[in-house]
Amino acid sequence: MGDPKRYTVTAALPYANGPLHIGHVAGAYLPADIYVRSLRQRGKQVLFVCGSDEHGAAITMKALQEGSTPQQIVDRYHAMLESSLKGLGVDLDVYHRTSSELHHRTSQEFFDQLYEKGAFTEQEEEQYFDPEAGRFLADRYITGTCPKCGNPGAYGDQCEKCGSALSPADLIDPKSTLSGGAPVLKRTKHWYLPMDQHQEWVDTWLNQGLLDGTQHHDPKEWKPQVLGQCNSWIKDGLRPRAMTRDLDWGVPVPLDQAKGKVLYVWLDAPIGYISATRQWALDHGRDWEPWWKDKDTRLVHFIGKDNIVFHCIVFPILLKEHGGFILPHNVPANEFLNLEGRKLSTSRNWAVWVHEYLDRWPGREDVLRYTLTTILPEFRDSEFTWKDLQEKNNNELVAILGNFVQRVFVLCHKYFEGKVPESKRPDPSDVDVLTAVNEAPFLVRGHIDRYRFREALAMAMMPARLGNKYLTDTEPWKLHATDPDRVATILYNCLNIVAALSHVLGPFLPFTVKKLQQMLGIGAIPWADILSFEMPRGQALGKPEHLFSPITDEEIQPELERLHAHAPLAKEVQTQADAISPANAIKPLIQFDDFARLDLRTGLVLAAERIPKADKLLKLTVDIGEEDPRTVISGIAAHYGPEEVVGRQVVLVANLEPRKMRGVLSEGMVLMSEDADGKLVFVAPDAAIRPGSEVR
Ligand code: 2FM
Ligand code: ZN
Repeated sequence: MGDPKRYTVTAALPYANGPLHIGHVAGAYLPADIYVRSLRQRGKQVLFVCGSDEHGAAITMKALQEGSTPQQIVDRYHAMLESSLKGLGVDLDVYHRTSSELHHRTSQEFFDQLYEKGAFTEQEEEQYFDPEAGRFLADRYITGTCPKCGNPGAYGDQCEKCGSALSPADLIDPKSTLSGGAPVLKRTKHWYLPMDQHQEWVDTWLNQGLLDGTQHHDPKEWKPQVLGQCNSWIKDGLRPRAMTRDLDWGVPVPLDQAKGKVLYVWLDAPIGYISATRQWALDHGRDWEPWWKDKDTRLVHFIGKDNIVFHCIVFPILLKEHGGFILPHNVPANEFLNLEGRKLSTSRNWAVWVHEYLDRWPGREDVLRYTLTTILPEFRDSEFTWKDLQEKNNNELVAILGNFVQRVFVLCHKYFEGKVPESKRPDPSDVDVLTAVNEAPFLVRGHIDRYRFREALAMAMMPARLGNKYLTDTEPWKLHATDPDRVATILYNCLNIVAALSHVLGPFLPFTVKKLQQMLGIGAIPWADILSFEMPRGQALGKPEHLFSPITDEEIQPELERLHAHAPLAKEVQTQADAISPANAIKPLIQFDDFARLDLRTGLVLAAERIPKADKLLKLTVDIGEEDPRTVISGIAAHYGPEEVVGRQVVLVANLEPRKMRGVLSEGMVLMSEDADGKLVFVAPDAAIRPGSEVR
């Protein structure tokens, strides 16, 4: 398979229900941007599209919680998302939004075409409805016990513990997260995509790369974990999936009999890529269709792992059923990025928000891009820490890249009046380093084409490492008096290495590369010229600009403090010298027997709900290995929502005399730890253990 004529590159549409965080960036936007910038360097035709996903139950819920409207929510976050992506240098051709009229039209036309072709089956079904909230419940808003692994906190669409795909009807003992009450079943009609009918070709296409009998892509180029997730669905057997929902926010289903229904995210968000392309074409007087329909276009989707099946199975089925569309050539999905030892979480505010980073670390966009690229979760989950950002900045960007460039410019200003030296005498001893530098662009390109961006960046830094070593080995400062010609050659070579860096680092560090080009007095070096490029002799050089500055402990400390202060569930414990004060002094001594009278047991929270008119109390159902689980009232509702508690292991005081609270008999007490600031955390076993185990 040769090079295609053009590339359509998409990055997952972020939900407009919150700002962008570094997990999104490392998952999709940064790798996509590196890929696109590299293609552009090589003169390829690329269209890089994205936009806000402005529909879905999460947005209506947020509006409900805030007492505003969905439109207000999406207007706010659309603007934020767009400016965060821009601020970080994500070089999109278009950033569209799914609430636009053009998108509504595009996805409705898409639905119509599928409908006409008979691609859907209609099913009248009973679906969960929350009578208290007066709404049908989106899958995510129903929790219950997973039928496969028994996880009591499984969602209506997926069990996060065992990874099974579920539908709400699979859940044992379902609960509405809106009201906490049990949902009821109510009849409603929906349009289903019978994925089971497509299983065979999807399997052949994914695993052999064959589409309609011709080679479409090479499955060996796909990440194993991406194919693995798809194959686990295929093995289970693809099932019909509803493509419509009962909701009042979204793209209305364009059928008379479908009042009050909207297209499900699967028929909405990915079509957002197409409407974004159409918007771009309108804005630029171009044709959108070749980007989606020409066989000589390569379609690549950058996404996080939670969207794999969506892009590798569902969207391809929709595209093929519609007809005329190309299918993705690759879907290089990333795994997840963790933050300081914990899962990133928007709802728990455990995140580094891009807009805040851009605000507080001005001029350091590339420091974040660099750090995140070195830890991209390409094959497994990875972890961001502020300490790592500091170290990568200080030990690599400052000490290797910045230092090399600084040394070269200072020496050129010192010995050659800030001009590119007239090198007269090529020296055979320089061949090795120059050859190695010349290889860098090819190595970088090779890794980028295989979606290995971490390795690509390591290769792109190589000329800077080699350059530093070259300067240290040749010591031009010692030769200045005796052999000025040699000094000219060395520095001339060094300037060419800096020029090479301005090329190879282009996809990764666009802000720094702009500065490098200004300092060198050159523009972007086209791919075709990379081997023959030489700095014009005698040309005036710019001032040595500071590319990077060290980051101190004092600078990262506030970031850590903010993180912990804003996150209600910090794992790390702040050591406070004054944690024990007169107010919570240690109690008088007891005998061992006093202690032994306590019966402490491990338990598993099976269910949790709020107690009406009691803001502080949650009613928990806790399994401690007895025949029936216990009911325990716990004063933690100000710290934990019911959905955060279900599935947790706890320690229960099992022989506390039962007590009636708010009309409910509480049969024990869950142990919590509270610090001087009133922060409350669970005391829990640090590994899974059978409920009812003794605590001594
Ligand atoms: O999971 C998500 O973030 C959704 N907004 C869908 C993203 S992928 C889509 F754009 F196709
Ligand atoms: Zn499960």
